[in-house]
Amino acid sequence: MSQVNNKKIKLVSVTNRNLKDLYFLISDKKIVGNFQPHYGRPFLAFKHKFSKTKVKYYLVKNKMSGELLGYAYWAPEPRFNSFEIGATIIPSQRGQGYGLHSHQVLISLLEKKYKCDRIQAITASQNANEIAVLNKCGFLCEGTLSKAGKIGNRFLDLCIFGKIIRKK
Ligand SMILES: CC(C)(COP(=O)(O)OP(=O)(O)OC[C@H]1O[C@@H](n2cnc3c(N)ncnc32)[C@H](O)[C@@H]1OP(=O)(O)O)[C@@H](O)C(=O)NCCC(=O)NCCS
Repeated sequence: MSQVNNKKIKLVSVTNRNLKDLYFLISDKKIVGNFQPHYGRPFLAFKHKFSKTKVKYYLVKNKMSGELLGYAYWAPEPRFNSFEIGATIIPSQRGQGYGLHSHQVLISLLEKKYKCDRIQAITASQNANEIAVLNKCGFLCEGTLSKAGKIGNRFLDLCIFGKIIRKK
């Protein structure tokens, strides 16, 4: 299974072999938090969806112990040379730098391996934790889409954050 590392964490590619771990994370409301939807359908439906997706998912693991910490992903923008990224850390593991490290590993991978020109991340305007991580990674808020997200009956304003990798 392919993986990318830094000092503290490793990002392990999700395949059919470890897909249940991703399903466990992505279908738990408490883990995905208040600003993104959880996956609400059975595992077999998720497996089918996963087989068609263009999104590249990783399990975030502690590099030393192998403990599951969360998940991260990148998705190519279909027309241009830019990518969207995101990460989710299990609540009990937050506040230890794992979210920041996950973003940094994804950025480095997209920059070096995929030679991308721009990376973006979209998050709810109230998601202070994610916004703090994005600012630390050098992203700038480029605008807000009013009521563009909906979780249950609650509308969310979504902020688009961009990081320019190559200017020319
Ligand atoms: C967003 C998320 C991934 C951050 O992960 P984390 O592991 O808790 O964050 P980190 O510990 O790496 O924090 C990184 C830095 O941001 C700072 N930070 C985090 N939350 C902050 C906040 N609310 N206000 C100010 N600074 C904050 C930390 O202090 C830390 O700074 P430091 O390196 O100087 O100490 C995590 O909160 C999460 O999984 N949230 C739910 C899922 C989610 O909303 N994901 C984003 C989807 S768009």
